[in-house]
Amino acid sequence: MMLMMMMQQTLLFTVATGILSFTKAHRYKIEFEDDELFSDCPNQPESVLNINGLLNLTELTIDRPQDSLQFSGNFTTVWNIQKTDLIQGSLDVFKYERREWVPTIYKMRALNFCSILFDKNQYWYRVWGQHVTNLEEVKDKCFKPGTKYMHETFEMYLDFENRMQNVEGEHKIQFELKAFDEFNRMRPTSILAIKILSFTKAHRYKIEFEDDELFSDCSNQPESVLNIHGLLNLTEWTIDRPQDNLKFSGNFTTVWNIQKTDRIQCSLEIFKYDRREWVPTLYKMKMPHFCPLLFDENQHWYKVWGQHITNLEEVKDNCLNVPGDLLNH
Ligand SMILES: *[C@@H]1O[C@H](CO)[C@@H](O)[C@H](O)[C@H]1NC(C)=O
Ligand SMILES: *[C@@H]1O[C@H](CO)[C@@H](O)[C@H](O)[C@H]1NC(C)=O
Ligand SMILES: *[C@@H]1O[C@H](CO)[C@@H](O)[C@H](O)[C@H]1NC(C)=O
Ligand SMILES: *[C@@H]1O[C@H](CO)[C@@H](O)[C@H](O)[C@H]1NC(C)=O
Repeated sequence: MMLMMMMQQTLLFTVATGILSFTKAHRYKIEFEDDELFSDCPNQPESVLNINGLLNLTELTIDRPQDSLQFSGNFTTVWNIQKTDLIQGSLDVFKYERREWVPTIYKMRALNFCSILFDKNQYWYRVWGQHVTNLEEVKDKCFKPGTKYMHETFEMYLDFENRMQNVEGEHKIQFELKAFDEFNRMRPTSILAIKILSFTKAHRYKIEFEDDELFSDCSNQPESVLNIHGLLNLTEWTIDRPQDNLKFSGNFTTVWNIQKTDRIQCSLEIFKYDRREWVPTLYKMKMPHFCPLLFDENQHWYKVWGQHITNLEEVKDNCLNVPGDLLNH
């Protein structure tokens, strides 16, 4: 009789449910097409200078750790203009479509670029200006020849989240500067530089936990179906919730009343909440012999859970079969 009941419990043990909600985060991954600060714009007249006509980059170091560009060192302005000139700046974003660069709605014109070069509300202040270490000294000099801008080591981190819609693909940012003297006559040279970026939509989902439990109960089950507390004593288990994460520490101890020699069968299914009901999805897994997989390093749950067990050597052969087994984390 006792054995009979245990058998039933074993068969019907479906544990519990966890409820997660997935939200799509609008994020783009930006790849830099080259290792230059800016590249040249082809087929320009002699009066149109490239980035080296504006800046001496000898003391600037560019590294490329993984996908980002990392800068350190100095650059010095070399454009042959006068301190009193009015500098006009423009920035245009083009998209590569059907073999040509097509203008987009993202463009900017500044009739007095120097007045906003270090404006903290401008996008480029976050990208560049805030990393200038001698800002106090240079902030009123703008492009006055011989001005040295010194930088801390920084990554060119472009974050277009929620700023631009539909930006997937290859893009060109074109940057142009023109200088005008006190009679509003244009100086003989201008600066033109481009930067090519490629945007890929990052297929990333943000997961939110609907509650602070390790697992919750499944409603309307017969008495023989136990919840998570029928498997584990969680008294020594701590759950914290810093921001959107669940953070665990402590121990749990197996309490399910079974025998070490029992075979444990496990199934894992994902349901989606659709039109007010939980609908099965394609994601399901049935494991007739769960114990050999419990600490298998190739299983997803090993990364999520198993690798954080501090007394793994001691417990790894006990699986869930030995009531009273203490797992430390
Ligand atoms: C750039 O600056 C370095 C010193 O930092 C100097 O040796 C070099 O001549 C400069 N190049 C130009 C083109 O001004
Ligand atoms: C940047 O300029 C400062 C001051 O002139 C100098 O001490 C430093 O060595 C320069 N950095 C590089 C990487 O050349
Ligand atoms: C759970 O473990 C604690 C000690 O860690 C013990 O005091 C408590 O009685 C246990 N609870 C159950 C239901 O076994
Ligand atoms: C976990 O178990 C170890 C060993 O029994 C004990 O020293 C430690 O205090 C326990 N941790 C918690 C959070 O109860």
